[in-house]
Amino acid sequence: MKTRKEKIFIAGHNGMIGSAILKKLKKKKNLKILYENRNKLDLTDQKKVFKYLKSNKPNGVIIAAAKVGGIVANNTDRASFIYDNLAIQANLIHGSYLAGVKNLIFLGSSCIYPKLSKQPIKERYLLSNYLEKTNEPYSIAKLAGLKLCENYSSQYNLNYKTLMPCNSYGENDNYDSKNSHFIPALIKKIIEAISKNKDHIVLWGNGKSLREVIFSEDVASACIFFLKKKTKHKMFNIGTGSDISIEKYARLIMKHMNVNLKIVFDKKKPNGTFKKLLDSSLAKSYGWKHKTKFEKGISIAINDYLKNHLKKK
Ligand SMILES: NC(=O)c1ccc[n+]([C@@H]2O[C@H](COP(=O)([O-])OP(=O)(O)OC[C@H]3O[C@@H](n4cnc5c(N)ncnc54)[C@H](OP(=O)(O)O)[C@@H]3O)[C@@H](O)[C@H]2O)c1
Repeated sequence: MKTRKEKIFIAGHNGMIGSAILKKLKKKKNLKILYENRNKLDLTDQKKVFKYLKSNKPNGVIIAAAKVGGIVANNTDRASFIYDNLAIQANLIHGSYLAGVKNLIFLGSSCIYPKLSKQPIKERYLLSNYLEKTNEPYSIAKLAGLKLCENYSSQYNLNYKTLMPCNSYGENDNYDSKNSHFIPALIKKIIEAISKNKDHIVLWGNGKSLREVIFSEDVASACIFFLKKKTKHKMFNIGTGSDISIEKYARLIMKHMNVNLKIVFDKKKPNGTFKKLLDSSLAKSYGWKHKTKFEKGISIAINDYLKNHLKKK
């Protein structure tokens, strides 16, 4: 007898984390992977999203689609950060419920915890204090997505969960100068300095702020690991458990490229929160753990930048 293939829909399959999920799912047998480009399925379009989910009836949905950006974009396009993210996630979560989808993963982020959280940050610190002002619209939208998952799970007996990754980096990252996170920004600055024969790079602030980063494929593995898992908890921190300073990241990336540029600190620019370290022991207690060391992940990210992004900019 022929068994019906399981169907998983990835929203945001062209993005950094979505493409890592797609890459991993392609290695699995007996699985039909569903995805659509934005020009065919704009996820802010409620009618289209509901129709797509109802006619395709996936068994699982992973939401890796969102309007994502660095500090400048988050603080400037404040209206579209809140509107687009609310629309994308409400359409996908409610649409999944209407289409009978039992398992769903939504991606939150470590940056939606209160600005001055105790460290390391536990899941229960959520909503315990004020948010960071610069990304408040994005955070409010993400918090609403997380609450949609939590309440749809309890009211309708569904398995809709939120994963909260720390800062992520990897293939298909965003290298737009106004819109990128700090790891892609460092890669780009260092490679540009080398190509222009400069002897230094400039970093914002004093470089002492501590950051935890995770390779995109480890976030992807967490999404796949937790999608069908039945868990009492509905939200999990996804991190590596260690952090180092932004200056140290710059030095590690330079070491990887065999260069030793001077670092000039632009102390007029903000440092950001001093420390943002997740306590990921809850996810670990269910059996998930990150695998990729920074040295390996960064080498993949740098090669991807050199091969696929350098010419475009
Ligand atoms: N990157 C991080 O460090 C990080 C850390 C923690 C959590 N997260 C979360 O992880 C998720 C994925 O992040 P990412 O870094 O992979 O983002 P990304 O690279 O910017 O990818 C986002 C994806 O969403 C798609 N998208 C956005 N608006 C859409 C729309 N209206 N219709 C259809 N598709 C749309 C984009 O499509 P196009 O390709 O057409 O633009 C893109 O494929 C987000 O929820 C983010 O908040 C990210």
